[in-house]
Amino acid sequence: HAADALRTDLMTITRYVLNEQSKHPESRGDFTILLSHIVLGCKFVCSSVNKAGLAKLIGLAGETNVQAKKEEPITWVVYSVGEEQKKLDVLSNDVFVKALVSSGRTCILVSEEDEEATFVEPALRGRYCVVFDPLDGSSNIDCGVSIGTIFGIYMVKDFTEPTLDQALQPGKNMVAAGYCMYGSSCTLVLSTGSGVNGFTLDPSLGEFILTHPDIKIPKKGKIYSVNEGNAKNWDGPTAKYVENCKFPKEGSSPKSLRYIGSMVADVHRTLLYGGIFLYPADKKSPSGKLRVLYEVFPMSFLMEQAGGQAFTGKERALDLVPKKIHERSPIFLGSYDDVEEIKALYAAEA
Ligand code: AHG
Ligand code: MN
Ligand code: MN
Ligand code: MN
Repeated sequence: HAADALRTDLMTITRYVLNEQSKHPESRGDFTILLSHIVLGCKFVCSSVNKAGLAKLIGLAGETNVQAKKEEPITWVVYSVGEEQKKLDVLSNDVFVKALVSSGRTCILVSEEDEEATFVEPALRGRYCVVFDPLDGSSNIDCGVSIGTIFGIYMVKDFTEPTLDQALQPGKNMVAAGYCMYGSSCTLVLSTGSGVNGFTLDPSLGEFILTHPDIKIPKKGKIYSVNEGNAKNWDGPTAKYVENCKFPKEGSSPKSLRYIGSMVADVHRTLLYGGIFLYPADKKSPSGKLRVLYEVFPMSFLMEQAGGQAFTGKERALDLVPKKIHERSPIFLGSYDDVEEIKALYAAEA
């Protein structure tokens, strides 16, 4: 019975990746091992995020008197107050770095939290370079709004002598990309270059189960997502595009605005419901805000794999070749037709 199959024949993320791998007889299981270490990082961060609010209230020793603790920072690992507000970012970074290095399958790591790239010690080197944002949307931590982890994976040709330029490849060279969203449920969205699949963490099993097979973004959407507080500094095409969303030409209805301020959550909604997510350039930040390697590339990879597009205002986002690991770029991504429209506006201006 189909219902039986649903309950007892679970498509876990590991099983899914093993299935994919069996299509490539030359593969040696390295990717499966790497991914299982990324999954461990996601589960750890998910559990820390869920505990963070509680930790703030009760502290390490289970101290329930919040008033008594007010003056001293609470030192429990996942959370602290005052100057150390970003503790959860740092914890998440530590978890991912350790999980990735110990997989024995990585040689270069680039994290949003670390100024320099990490070169894995020779004994633990493997053939993958992983770029990641361990905790994206950190301004949303304190109010319990969805945050996430973003990652992209490159293959490194000569991994015995890794060099920085192997981390500076265009996004189209990624072999896989994904994100994990810590929201009302914990959802991991992954592409290994043949479509996009979504997995939801079953906390009772500790396993990610395939819940969103073969995600395709609607060809056109009804939602736009942008920080409109920056509007006074926008360039002409961005301003025109957003104006059109609100006051469309005769016959079509205006789009709805949704903006969470967590890229993972805004992109996740865009992927499932359709529409467009914009983080444009503006006069104050001529390269926009989002980072090419571990924000723009993975999300652009997923969008294209789901049938959408990703554009920088100048070119296809995945064609960009970054010169620095923390480089930024404007980004417009989402439903095919919606991105087509902004491309036309930039083309008209050029
Ligand atoms: P991070 O928390 O990793 O520093 O990134 C935050 C990013 C991203 O999640 C989001 O899309 C964007 O910042 C929101 O920026 P604004 O507050 O400028 O809208
Ligand atoms: Mn980020
Ligand atoms: Mn971050
Ligand atoms: Mn940060």
